[in-house]
Amino acid sequence: MQILDGIKLAKEIKQEIKEAVEAAVKEGKRKPHLAAVLVGNDGASQTYVNNKIKDCQQVGFESSLVKLPNTVSQTELLEVIQKLNTQENLDGFIVQLPLPAQIDQEEIIEAINPKRDVDGFHPTNFGKMALDMSTFLPATPFGILEMLDRYNIPTRGKHAVIIGRSRIVGRPMSILMGRKDFPGNSTVTLTHSNTENLSYYTNHADIVITALGVPGFLTADMVKEGAVVIDVGITRVDDDSEKGYKLVGDVDFENVKQKASWITPVPGGVGPMTRAMLLKNTLLAYKNNTK
Ligand code: GUN
Repeated sequence: MQILDGIKLAKEIKQEIKEAVEAAVKEGKRKPHLAAVLVGNDGASQTYVNNKIKDCQQVGFESSLVKLPNTVSQTELLEVIQKLNTQENLDGFIVQLPLPAQIDQEEIIEAINPKRDVDGFHPTNFGKMALDMSTFLPATPFGILEMLDRYNIPTRGKHAVIIGRSRIVGRPMSILMGRKDFPGNSTVTLTHSNTENLSYYTNHADIVITALGVPGFLTADMVKEGAVVIDVGITRVDDDSEKGYKLVGDVDFENVKQKASWITPVPGGVGPMTRAMLLKNTLLAYKNNTK
């Protein structure tokens, strides 16, 4: 078993981005600028957004944080988005999900200027992705592709089984793994909560990608000898530590690692790659804007 080390790769990618920013600034250009909209005070969302802002500082990006109360109305949030859509010297922005129940999430995502949609969530960008057109790829699937690429994991002709069909991970991942490209060219099975006999599919998978959010869901008996196992799950489970919780993946790591050829740890696998890919998308938006 070998570890797919997201911390190490993300560090390399961030260094590449930092150097690209330094080169642009040397040419007299402004720095790339990412904004994040955070609604409410969900602990996990706050941590994610704070980390995104920290990442920007590390690579030399400008960053802005727009904090809104949990009670924000649809109209107020749409107004914030309209401003960010046209604000000068801003390259991209994200609206952290999930949003409170009173908010129509799809209307919010559709209101984002696709050229600034560095999450790759807008239907225009999602459609471009599905049609192999150049666009912003959603950061988590993009990070997984980058990981498979940089570790040179064979994907062509392999059976990739995705668990979970969310708009952020499972569904785009299933499309990307099936694209005529590397990484890709896989035969893809997209499984979800209504899949019957799930372990039949996972047991016939060369690559398993789980994005469920159920700690320890994927057990060793569900995995084929030599499979590549990618764990997107990241659930906070209460413990006695100072923080009061630990992060746990969807994979029963200690047992599955005995069978896997390659496996991502949690934390330290997909998470850091997701963060690095948001920076990569922002750099792409910046390059489009400063050509
Ligand atoms: N919530 C969980 N993951 C993400 C992400 O990649 N982008 C946004 N905007 N919200 C999220």
